[in-house]
Amino acid sequence: MTLYPPSESAALLDGIRAFIEPAHVRTDPDSALTYGRDWTRLHTPNPLAVVLPGRIEQVQQLVRYANEHRLPLVPSGGRTGLSGAAVACQGEIVVSLERLNRILDFDPVDRSVTCQAGVVTEVVQNFARDHGLYYPVDFASRGSSQIGGNIATNAGGIKVIRYGLTRDWVTGLKVVTGRGDLLDLNRGLIKNATGYDLRHLFIGSEGTLGLIVEATLKLARPLREPSVLVLGVPDLNGIMAIYDLFRRKLELTAFEFFSELALRHVLNKGLHRPFDSETPYYVLIEFENPDGLHTDEALALFEQCAEQGWLADGVISQSEAQAKELWRLREDISESIAEHQPYKNDIAVRIARVPALLAEMDELLQREYPDFEVLWYGHIGDGNLHINILKPADRESAAFAKQCGTVSEHLFEALQRYGGSISAEHGVGLTKKPYLHYTRDEAEISYLRAIKQVFDPQGIMNPGKIFD
Ligand code: MLT
Ligand code: ZN
Repeated sequence: MTLYPPSESAALLDGIRAFIEPAHVRTDPDSALTYGRDWTRLHTPNPLAVVLPGRIEQVQQLVRYANEHRLPLVPSGGRTGLSGAAVACQGEIVVSLERLNRILDFDPVDRSVTCQAGVVTEVVQNFARDHGLYYPVDFASRGSSQIGGNIATNAGGIKVIRYGLTRDWVTGLKVVTGRGDLLDLNRGLIKNATGYDLRHLFIGSEGTLGLIVEATLKLARPLREPSVLVLGVPDLNGIMAIYDLFRRKLELTAFEFFSELALRHVLNKGLHRPFDSETPYYVLIEFENPDGLHTDEALALFEQCAEQGWLADGVISQSEAQAKELWRLREDISESIAEHQPYKNDIAVRIARVPALLAEMDELLQREYPDFEVLWYGHIGDGNLHINILKPADRESAAFAKQCGTVSEHLFEALQRYGGSISAEHGVGLTKKPYLHYTRDEAEISYLRAIKQVFDPQGIMNPGKIFD
């Protein structure tokens, strides 16, 4: 635990104020609470200070100063993380890059945009749209998450089946390493065969190697009039059969699923049921459909699935507004259940193994959580399932987390047999750290440690996250 005696910490912070404007070195309780945590609410934030550099040189000065004084730094983006990676609960200094929020360059020929790390995802998306292009990494927290945080967690989201992860869109990165060096990685090149690609080490590094300060992102052509289908599915097995059939015939841009129990939470927040009948599960399918070109094909697939008994009911959007409304049934789930302090599992397995894993998980969860409300949803087309266990109102938080942690071990033992991952997109941070060994073996973890040692020899960058 890094806690400095008050006299020492005051002097340390004065040292920072010598190179970062005093107004941007904050110690007030509101800033500590706001910037000291992410969307997990398991740890009590307790940073020594929140520092907001406005220039890359200030970031470098801060890292060098932190090395000199052995000060732990916690990089902070839009704080929408779900694994505690941006939590500062041990007297660390939170480094928010929200003042580094400018779009620096746009190249229509390269179809790329260069921006500072603190630019909000939606700002990049809107910028791309205004230039006739599309930034396809997308998720519900687009309005607050920042590009630097997305890269540090290799964010996934709702369009991965067609467009891949954040990693697939980053062609250049500027980073300040844990040693304080500024590295200009890959410089927007598509091809660059000159040895190790350090850019990819920083993508998904969760702030443990250094701070991402700037990124060059590829852009795509815009989606052409996407249509959205929501289908009611009587049992879990039908979901992958539907996926298989639809992706044979249509170029899908999303294939999501959610359970009736999850749906009820968004309905409670004022949304409407997509159709009258209730089924235990639903899938949401999106595909490009310019001028309704593929509507007949989609309806024929719908009929085929219905004949097989894989679906019971369904609806197809007739306008952009309707498509957006249908998306909300899936996208609003996370926020609608936040008040129940869900224990989140975010697992991944190869697509072919989803049906067998689903059956095993379902059986295990029904057995282990007979009294808890368990909600399923996620990006099932990528083999990524979110399993949320809601905390009963009368249950104390720590006891609930402990109980869920024990069940997670059973879950991860099964997952290990299927060669899956304990985190598909939320990251390891603090909450998944005890379980990392289910996905990465000891030998591999020792290489991760050795890499950290190279970039951050004094261990000042986000200590205690991913592994100890
Ligand atoms: C989602 O898919 O909705 C996000 O990953 C957030 C969550 O899992 O709650
Ligand atoms: Zn997700």
